Amino acid sequence: MKLSPSLLSADFACLHESARTVESVADRFHWDVMDGHFVPNLTFGPSVVNALRRRLDRPFDIHLMIDHPLEYTPQFDVRSDDSIIFHVESDDEPTAVLEAIETASARAGITLRPGTPLERIEPYLDAVSLVLVMSVEPGFGGQAFLPDAIERIRAIHEQIGDRPIEIAVDGGIHAGNVRSVVDAGAEIIIAGSAIFGQPDPIAAAAAIREAAEG
Ligand code: DX5
Ligand code: ZN
Repeated sequence: MKLSPSLLSADFACLHESARTVESVADRFHWDVMDGHFVPNLTFGPSVVNALRRRLDRPFDIHLMIDHPLEYTPQFDVRSDDSIIFHVESDDEPTAVLEAIETASARAGITLRPGTPLERIEPYLDAVSLVLVMSVEPGFGGQAFLPDAIERIRAIHEQIGDRPIEIAVDGGIHAGNVRSVVDAGAEIIIAGSAIFGQPDPIAAAAAIREAAEG
């Protein structure tokens, strides 16, 4: 299990400090890039993520909730152990986005909204290192976990077979439900409000890890 705290629920006035606070209990960091079109919310873009990339050591998972991943992918200064994750429902042709991610020398991740049929991502599985299962509607932190995600994780796990693809799960994860998503086959656990919305984010992250692994 790898824990990837989502900074969406952190204080945006001090993203670096918030990430540093939990770095010792984090395996990766999750950055939610939103454009106000693909989802009804705006966050940050390449310039902010790149500035943070220069100041943090852990690998990044960059979750693009934007209409045009093809246009913005080349603007991220990524490392080879970072992931760029795009939505199959975005406006761009997935094969072209996957090529752009390869040109950027990042790991490719694909994701889909909770209501999108899993068949939509099947044609691209041979070209990705990661599948992100959304367990809330993308756009906002702090929403309740959608229980259907468990079955979707299981189904994707089966679809993947022995291909070297990690499954990540994003949305509504906390210490009380993390075990069920890990048991279903998720390897990367993303959590925002269950970490940064808590009075002691380090203890909260440690509790999620313990619940997942214990
Ligand atoms: C939602 C984002 C998530 C969000 C999860 O659109 O993709 O990464 O930060 O937040 P929580 O863990 O609070 O549901
Ligand atoms: Zn996300």
